[in-house]
Order: sequence, then C-alpha cells, then structure tokens
Amino acid sequence: MSMLKIEGLTAGYGPVSVLHGLDLEVGEGELVVMLGANGAGKTTTMRAISGLIGRQGTIEMEGVNITKWSPDHIVRAGIAQVPQGRGTFPELSVEDNLLAGAYVRHKGEGVRDDMERWFDVFPRLAERRAQKAGSLSGGEQQMLAIARALMSRPKLLLCDEPSLGLAPLITQELFDVLGRLNTEEGLSVLLVEQNANLAMHIASRVYLLETGRIVASGTSAELSADDSIRKAYLGF
Ligand SMILES: Nc1ncnc2c1ncn2[C@@H]1O[C@H](COP(=O)(O)OP(=O)(O)OP(=O)(O)O)[C@@H](O)[C@H]1O
Ligand SMILES: [Mg+2]
Repeated sequence: MSMLKIEGLTAGYGPVSVLHGLDLEVGEGELVVMLGANGAGKTTTMRAISGLIGRQGTIEMEGVNITKWSPDHIVRAGIAQVPQGRGTFPELSVEDNLLAGAYVRHKGEGVRDDMERWFDVFPRLAERRAQKAGSLSGGEQQMLAIARALMSRPKLLLCDEPSLGLAPLITQELFDVLGRLNTEEGLSVLLVEQNANLAMHIASRVYLLETGRIVASGTSAELSADDSIRKAYLGF
C-alpha cells in the first residue's frame, strides 16, 4: 500500500488554477523528489496535500481518502510539512519551537525524549537550545524546521526546498540527515527541490513538474540518462 497516492489533483488560488491533474505516489519508506522550476507548482502541491488550500481529485494516505480533511486532521494522521522559508517562530527558543511541533500529541507522552533524540541528530540545535530561533543561521533554522516537523511523529515528511539559500556543504548535511531518517527510521519523504544534483542522490524516485503537470518520472538513473532532462535540470 502507498503511503501517499495522489490522482488527478487540481488546485489553485481563487480563479487561478495552478495544478492541472497531478498524479504522484510515495511508497511506504520511499524518499521521492519532486523537481521543477520556479512557479511550476511545487509549493502548491505541498499545500494541497497538507489541506491548506482548496483541492480536487483524490489524495489517499495509507489507502484512506484524506482529500477533504482539515490541516489539523492531516497532521494527526501523520503528514508533517516543513514549509518553504522554514516558518519557525523567531521569538521563541529552539526548545519552545520543538515543543510547538508536538502540539498534536498528548501532553507529556514522550515529547521530551523525542526532543533529546532530535538534539542527537542535530547537535548544532542542542548547543543552541535556549537561543531564539530568529538568531540562528539559515542552515540551523532549516534544521530546526525539520526537527520541529518531526516532533509530530510523522509517517510522511513533506519538505519544501530546504536547500534554499544554503551553502552546498550545509545542504549536503541536511540531505544526509533526510537520507538517514529515510533509510534508518523508515520515514517516508516527499522532497521538493531545485537543487537536482544533490537531491537525486538520496531519491528513490523523481518526478518532474512543469506548469502544474508531471512531465516525467522514474528513478534518478532513468531521468539522468535522458539528455533533455539532464540539460534542463542537472545542468550537464
Ligand atoms: N497565494 C497565491 N495567490 C495567487 N497565486 C499564487 C499564490 N501562491 C502561488 N501562486 C502562483 O501559483 C504558481 C505556482 O506557485 P508555487 O509557489 O506552487 O511554485 P513553486 O514551484 O513552489 O515555485 P518556487 O520554486 O519559486 O518556490 C505561481 O504562478 C504563483 O504565482
Ligand atoms: Mg515553492
């Protein structure tokens, strides 16, 4: 059974239609990358999955139709989104940001233990646990945003362009963590990226999105064997 199965998804903003019948699947334990240029509709896809904007078509999680569920219900079902631009609370400490990420869970139940667990995975955050999120570097804020999403104990993590504005070395570090969470913890991941070269290394499968439509999909090896795709997305 798929972790996430999307069929004929359409979504947009008021009269503006952005997604035009999108099909996409994330298998259990898969790390799927969605590539696409600016404005292709990647963030819109993430928002539609999270229930943050109006959508039509079918979105199933583990075989259950969640298309009409509220954002809150969708988080409780196990889908957490790391929004583009991070969306952490700048005035709150690192610890309080993480606690906020656990809001859907029952009080007390393992929350502190989980926080320590993510501090082990992201030692830079542990060192800065009392610091305001707004004073962290871009890379540290991105780590915090991911750790915060993980605090809801998701089965599927939606990650929207985590590499934006980060140096290649930090991006590599983030992708390594995402890859490890996927292979070692079995976390299913849908990763949106423009940084195709790095992202494709950790991907099980890749989708290409162009103006609201999937125009190609396959394994990283399959897509990088295609000349036109390689030139357009991989730059070599
Ligand atoms: N709130 C909004 N209201 C109206 N149009 C919007 C809104 N948000 C996005 N759009 C439009 O929807 C289209 C897709 O935007 P989206 O943010 O999904 O692109 P993207 O693939 O995530 O791009 P990027 O790589 O730049 O983040 C764009 O044409 C954009 O202008
Ligand atoms: Mg976007």
